Amino acid sequence: MRPVETLSRAEAAAELARLALEIARHDIAYYREARPTISDADYDALKQHNDAIEARYPELVRPDSPNRRVGARPAEGFAEVQHARPMLSLNNAFSADEVAEFLERVRRFLGLAGEVPVAVVAEPKLDGLSASLRYVGGEFVQGATRGDGERGEDVTANLRTLDDVPARLRGDDVPDVIEVRGEVYMPRQAFLKLNAVQAAAGRAPYANPRNAAAGSLRQLDAAITAERKLRFAAYAWGEASRLPAATQWDMLRRFQAWGLPRDERSRRCVGLAEMLDCYHAIEAERAWLPYDADGVVYKVDRLDWQERLGAQSRSPRWAVAHKFPAELAETRVLGIDVQVGRTGALTPVARLQPVTVGGVVVTNATLHNEDYIAEKDIRVGDLVRVRRAGDVIPQVLEVLAEARPQGVQRYAFPERCPACGSPATREAGEAVRRCTGGLGCPAQAVERLRHFVSREAFDIEGLGEKQVQAFYAAGLVRQPADLFTLAARDGRDGPRLAEREGWGETSVRNLFLAIEERRRISLERFLNALGIRHIGQANARLLARGYRGLPALRQAMDEAQDHDSEAYRELLAMGGIGEKVAAALLAFFAAPANREALAALLAEITVEDAAPAADAGSPVAGQTVVFTGKLERMTREEAKARAEALGVKVAGSVSRKTDLVVAGPGAGGKLKNAEALGVKVISEDDWLALIREGT
Ligand code: IVH
Repeated sequence: MRPVETLSRAEAAAELARLALEIARHDIAYYREARPTISDADYDALKQHNDAIEARYPELVRPDSPNRRVGARPAEGFAEVQHARPMLSLNNAFSADEVAEFLERVRRFLGLAGEVPVAVVAEPKLDGLSASLRYVGGEFVQGATRGDGERGEDVTANLRTLDDVPARLRGDDVPDVIEVRGEVYMPRQAFLKLNAVQAAAGRAPYANPRNAAAGSLRQLDAAITAERKLRFAAYAWGEASRLPAATQWDMLRRFQAWGLPRDERSRRCVGLAEMLDCYHAIEAERAWLPYDADGVVYKVDRLDWQERLGAQSRSPRWAVAHKFPAELAETRVLGIDVQVGRTGALTPVARLQPVTVGGVVVTNATLHNEDYIAEKDIRVGDLVRVRRAGDVIPQVLEVLAEARPQGVQRYAFPERCPACGSPATREAGEAVRRCTGGLGCPAQAVERLRHFVSREAFDIEGLGEKQVQAFYAAGLVRQPADLFTLAARDGRDGPRLAEREGWGETSVRNLFLAIEERRRISLERFLNALGIRHIGQANARLLARGYRGLPALRQAMDEAQDHDSEAYRELLAMGGIGEKVAAALLAFFAAPANREALAALLAEITVEDAAPAADAGSPVAGQTVVFTGKLERMTREEAKARAEALGVKVAGSVSRKTDLVVAGPGAGGKLKNAEALGVKVISEDDWLALIREGT
């Protein structure tokens, strides 16, 4: 680039035009395609050059100057969409036995007699990404990705480009509002063609049709999506002002009649044998299917039963995914690395000679733990059989012993942490060896930070493994609170972040913005982010719903340190929190180092109270209810699940904190207790009437 002083006015104008174009091109590569074409440093140099010319010739500043467009740059790409009803995922079954168990669970939950048939719809499990299409008055008004199930990305413009997504639904029975859900996928043919085009253009190929579908749908420029030949198959729905059918099967037929394709291989079947027939038929066709499928989804056909079965955690009880067998390959173990997790667990990972399994190149596989390696006698140098199933981490299944080269040594599992050298010990009855270095172990600290910023936790974009590690090593970020003081401390003792390797003005600005945006966080995400053992998304949600606010939760944790306290009983009555989980929680909140880290963090951020439970419209939301005696209209399991779905705390025993006791015939001690404490007692019918009020 020529120094500004040497440019004539005309040359400066030409240079500004060229820069505007070039910078715009890099912006598109960076923001829209997440594939930067130059380094941050080079990008910054272009920007500085542009700025210098603009400073010298202010009258030449163009309307499309990079400086005028900055505000128009989307920071994160797509707007967020809150799903009116959460987008769920599915439980898996890996064998016919597990499918039989699914059917049995459904029967038990609904209390069906042996002779009552359960009809099921079997649908191929398409390997793409799910999307929700919102139609109001029959018009397509909004389309969103699943995201975390609660919030997705607004990809309306992109979905409009799919031939399978009509702008208007046909027919006279289209509800006023309906969100049709289904899979966006890329047929294999289109995938192969796309990768050929990518290769010709010198771009990296997509690993599989699913990644290609996701990458194609999430283009900021819908014109690119339009070229990608994506398809859509409808199989579920979210909010609906009215349902035009009473079964899953008829819903699929309505979708098709309205102009939304459903998968033509779906079948309605009754009983285990027919379900398995259907599974085998689709599996036999698997290699010839026009798309990737990784299993068959069975769904209870009757919608009133679906409704009663409801969902547990993030998966409906009325559906299950019967997965196809995993794909296998043979390769050699080049080495065994031991990784240290955020709770200190040492996990051995096999480094493998790269091998293709089911269309994906595998270079690592988990070895689970010390015992797994010993049992299978896995050694460095062995030829092994590996398995990859869907999304899960590849596994080493077995050693091909006859192919063992001479002289390979039995593997000795380290007894010290490879990161900090502290002794690594095993607790009685545990297969996992853990580093005892605690907060002093850098590997644990880095893993905790990584978890803290991960998508389901604080979701700070621009902070991956590499960056967290580098920040930790440089002493910039040692604990979560440090993230929020990073911008204020930048350049204070040492070089500014923008001058560090791998960073530039733009990426630093974006990082600081991303961090700023997370100074307010929901209680649920916050609890998950803390990385407490056994507290993942599901338990974090439970706790958030149960305690509503962080102050209440912390107070309860302090009180519950005493196992005879009411607070401890309440914690265990929360349903889903057992003694092991409770112990981990209490230990976390009691540890002085954690209390300090928490205090430092809370000085920087605001944790929002949980929204009132699932269905705040229900008159029973937030109440504590005890069921006792025989229930005649539903099973105990169903009663509990339905109550919890309405935001009720179902407790096992009656105390002063109980709001209501629902008593059936034969109620004994608990009923007496309720009467003694003056707790209101109602019948099952009264209860059903009460919970119907809100709906
Ligand atoms: S139903 C209400 N049906 O599988 C339950 N999902 O593992 C929501 N999928 O996120 C899912 N084919 O992306 C359903 N016929 C099918 C499906 C299917 C593929 C995907 C979907 C979902 C994931 C869950």
